[in-house]
Amino acid sequence: MSKDAEKRLAGRAAMRYVEDGMIVGVGTGSTVAHFIDALAEHKDRIQGAVSSSEQSTHLLKARGVPVLDLNATGDIPLYVDGADECDAGRCLIKGGGGALTREKIIAAAAAKFVCIIDAGKRVDVLGLFPLPIEVIPMARSYVAREIVKRGGQPVWRDGTVTDNGNWILDVHGWRIQRPAELERDLNQIAGVVTVGLFAQRPADVVLIGAEEMR
Ligand code: 5RP
Repeated sequence: MSKDAEKRLAGRAAMRYVEDGMIVGVGTGSTVAHFIDALAEHKDRIQGAVSSSEQSTHLLKARGVPVLDLNATGDIPLYVDGADECDAGRCLIKGGGGALTREKIIAAAAAKFVCIIDAGKRVDVLGLFPLPIEVIPMARSYVAREIVKRGGQPVWRDGTVTDNGNWILDVHGWRIQRPAELERDLNQIAGVVTVGLFAQRPADVVLIGAEEMR
């Protein structure tokens, strides 16, 4: 099966978790685009969506799904999003699409986080995919030096400005054995906005294609 077919299956399978009247958190990316298509087919069943990016907001609105403000909704029951890598503990690397900050906020506010991926994203140890870190622009080289001290090789995603007006460093060369510990450490560096490790708040459910990971 092709990667895109797996993404489509995962996006559609996530509809199992959508209940009538829900407010649904919606992530970002090509897998989520399939979920948005499926969600739009049932838009009359839900109150609306909280979006993690301008890209997803555009897709949702184009399909007639009401987009709600997280400040107005309060905590939400469900968040559906993709990932760049996923380990056996459901810890994730996210942010390949640059939307990690809003994604992390919605994941934190969601009772259940359903992650949808194709099989190529499942890894034993996180880190082959470079770890995205969103930084305040003036802190870019300071944060990069701190990462080098920790053995990583930061590469500035030159030309990318996030929806929040910040920049991204992609960190190569780490094999991340203790993701929650690294996430906690990196969060302490001045100028770091968001670390693309979702380990302190991992996914609750991972769908690889239509199959739930066990
Ligand atoms: C965006 C993300 C995406 O979930 C991640 O990059 C996976 O994208 P795709 O579904 O296109 O493979 O974290 O910031």
